[in-house]
Amino acid sequence: MDNRIKIFDTTLRDGEQSPGASMDFEEKLEVADQLARLGVDVIEAGFPAASPGDFESVKAVAQRVSGPAICGLCRANDGDIDRCWEAVRFAQSARIHTFIATSDIHLKHKLRKTREEVLELTEKAVRRAVGYTPDVEFSAEDATRSDIDYLCEVVRVAIKAGAKTINLPDTVGYTTPQEYFDFITAVRKRVPETKDITLSVHCHNDLGLAVANSLSACLAGARQVECTVNGIGERAGNASLEEVAMAIKTRKDFYGLTTGIVTQEITKASRLVSDVTGFAVQPNKAIVGANAFAHEAGIHQHGVLAERTTYEIMDPADIGLGESRLVLGKHSGRHAFEKHLQDMGFNLSKEDVNRAFARFKDLADRKKEIFDADLEAIVADEVYSVQESWSLDHMTVYTTLEGFPTATVRLVRENTGILDTGTGVGAVDAVYKTIDKIVQIPYKLKDYMVHGVTGGTDALADVTVRLELNGQMFTGRGSALDIVEASAKAYVQAINKIVARGGVTAGQPREDTGRV
Ligand code: KIV
Ligand code: ZN
Repeated sequence: MDNRIKIFDTTLRDGEQSPGASMDFEEKLEVADQLARLGVDVIEAGFPAASPGDFESVKAVAQRVSGPAICGLCRANDGDIDRCWEAVRFAQSARIHTFIATSDIHLKHKLRKTREEVLELTEKAVRRAVGYTPDVEFSAEDATRSDIDYLCEVVRVAIKAGAKTINLPDTVGYTTPQEYFDFITAVRKRVPETKDITLSVHCHNDLGLAVANSLSACLAGARQVECTVNGIGERAGNASLEEVAMAIKTRKDFYGLTTGIVTQEITKASRLVSDVTGFAVQPNKAIVGANAFAHEAGIHQHGVLAERTTYEIMDPADIGLGESRLVLGKHSGRHAFEKHLQDMGFNLSKEDVNRAFARFKDLADRKKEIFDADLEAIVADEVYSVQESWSLDHMTVYTTLEGFPTATVRLVRENTGILDTGTGVGAVDAVYKTIDKIVQIPYKLKDYMVHGVTGGTDALADVTVRLELNGQMFTGRGSALDIVEASAKAYVQAINKIVARGGVTAGQPREDTGRV
């Protein structure tokens, strides 16, 4: 049996389903490009029948990304399957992924169908999809809670109808590693036809077992793992791609398996997904958490300095992580700066390098030590930002122990500056209320997160906000030495996304209201 595990990435579909993680069109394309660089085998780009927006982004990914197969998800009905094909057909290699639930609990309460009806729908759906492409995947949703005799019957029917990949998801994150191993082993034994197709697994993390379950299934013969960058996904998320890939690589002695993942691209993928979703990675997260390679205890530091492998089982360079060290100072030139960004894996246009360099110089004047993490925040802020409708031109904030903080803000749009003043319960609140008065768009602030990029009171503050308008989420991110300034930048960036991508006009043309 081949020992190569296919990595099926569903960050853009199941990952994007996590509440609040929605990405817009351009962000999905950026993520898809990075997934291709990461070397995944399949990109599940979305659910084309779910909305026109989903359809367009799946189609755009299919047209643009080469390398991985591009896949769309669809329910087991004609309309969904046809729509899915319309979106993925442009890909060099296109996959249709159709699914239907097989557990009695789903049949009774969700589908309201009998087992026979689901068998028929399975056969019909797979046959219709195979009419479009030979690369068809069938998923038996809630497989781990399904009656195994019935499940095996469904699997047999799907294979006979032409499915080349059969996915047996642990949809609700209920199974355990040993149980899943036995389950995959049993299905393989009872349905010998599975030897001609790829068995796939898709685990949710409700009990924190998604990665362990996926790896266990690979030991039992599964050869495709469905996962997401940073483990984002429905509820507690999906199996984390970076954990699966690094476990297979680091413990090759035990698993005897390989993947095609270019592990040096992991850190960039993780940061990009965190940037575009606004979902911070927890510091102690395996592989990509800020502390994953940090050694706090003196005895550990001593050991690592003497010999890295005393306390490190992976080389940080293998996941594309430069050491978090002092990198550049205020006398560093543009050339050294550009070279350093390249070493960090950023290949920016001249214009982007110039913008980032100007920010770096400004920061270097005010902050003594600059680390890789500071540069990443600058790049995220300057380069992955959106076309500006509004720009922050001036801001003064007075805070006091008595009364309310007051903010004066001037935003500029199309060479017209609007100045206003407002109060709030805190400095950030005062700035946000004032910006609201200026832009006059009825969004709602849903999330506000702040974190210090590096240690110390002179650390760059990195703020992420999420605004909601008409059910759509818009993420903004800003960094600055001052928390209030970073907050204002993040807010204005999210507003600019609303204007650029949310179909909202940037407010009525107004008179310039002057300077402070
Ligand atoms: O969790 C699940 O069962 C799914 C399927 C649609 C594959 O996401
Ligand atoms: Zn899922």
